[in-house]
Amino acid sequence: MADQTRRTRRVLLLPGDGIGAEVVAQAGRVLRETARLGGQPIEFRELPVGGAAIDACGEPLPAATLRSAQESDAVLLGAVGDPRYDHLPRDRWPERALLGLRAGLATYANLRPVRLHPVLEQASPLRPELVRGVDMLIVRELTGGIYFGTPRGVEGEGDGRVARNTMAYSVGEIRRIARVAFEAARRRRRKVTSVDKANILECSQLWREVVGSVGREYPDVALDHLYVDNAAMQLLARPRDFDVVLTENMFGDILSDEAAMLAGGIGMLPSASLGEGTGLFEPVHGSAPDIAGRGVANPLAAILSVAMLLRHSLGLPEEAARVEAAVERALDAGARTADLARAGETALSTQQMGDRVLEEIAVVMSR
Ligand code: IPM
Ligand code: MG
Repeated sequence: MADQTRRTRRVLLLPGDGIGAEVVAQAGRVLRETARLGGQPIEFRELPVGGAAIDACGEPLPAATLRSAQESDAVLLGAVGDPRYDHLPRDRWPERALLGLRAGLATYANLRPVRLHPVLEQASPLRPELVRGVDMLIVRELTGGIYFGTPRGVEGEGDGRVARNTMAYSVGEIRRIARVAFEAARRRRRKVTSVDKANILECSQLWREVVGSVGREYPDVALDHLYVDNAAMQLLARPRDFDVVLTENMFGDILSDEAAMLAGGIGMLPSASLGEGTGLFEPVHGSAPDIAGRGVANPLAAILSVAMLLRHSLGLPEEAARVEAAVERALDAGARTADLARAGETALSTQQMGDRVLEEIAVVMSR
């Protein structure tokens, strides 16, 4: 058993575009150091993805990058996306790399925890008494729905030119993501809120039916259903009431950005995308071209994604908890990047925040 936990794991780093490279540099340091102090051997590789891969190899997701991802235990991705490539045909946009990785790794379950650290109450644009104690998990279906449905495309001429996307969900796809949500709820406050648009969409009617039937296998977990427009409102009106939010791909994309503002901004949100094989871990924030290259980005979402990677793909829950504890300690001690700092507070650079977390890792790992 001891030997088993010490097997060499393979982690692929995909820094990508914009601030992706800056935050993955810090998150990579944290992962290396945590593994080293815990005596867990990890073999690292690093490859280009997104715009960086277009520059290096002419395509956003080179076959070698996908193959290496499939052969790894886990992938840590920074971000993809850069307006410099907007002139390229749609299938060569950097964002395609992300969809290609999600599909190629079959990571159908996207977990986005939204937790407000107490010292960041003031960093949320919402009133502290409203957001205090927010702790929810968004479970977003990631490989189906309108992002992937066919037929899709643009055809015709002039005013008759038509663009088309298709939303489709099978019973099997809904059932497996619903199970992820109910299992997660059992480790939390035992409440699932399923979000759909069942008053309009057939996909959502099937969604509601299947989630309801999976819910009957979990009588110890409370289930309720909200229409997505109402969910968008309730997330702001009573954010503390939410435990696990279960929803389809596009609704989850939108609601998770909204929910980020409950947790002190999008610079704090990690994510895990899980399927049967390799897990994909990435901060929820994008490439942020407006602040890229200036060393001011908040690396904590990427560092918290490392914690999720340790927990979900490397089977190292203690190391994961230590990374989270180190982040808490750094925040408690006043460490703030520009996005978190209030007037009068000193803002750390990306690298300095990485240094602070590493100092705290050394403390929590020595216990
Ligand atoms: C996200 C992002 C992606 C998505 C984009 C970059 C393709 O917004 O992970 O939330 O829409 O899924
Ligand atoms: Mg998004």
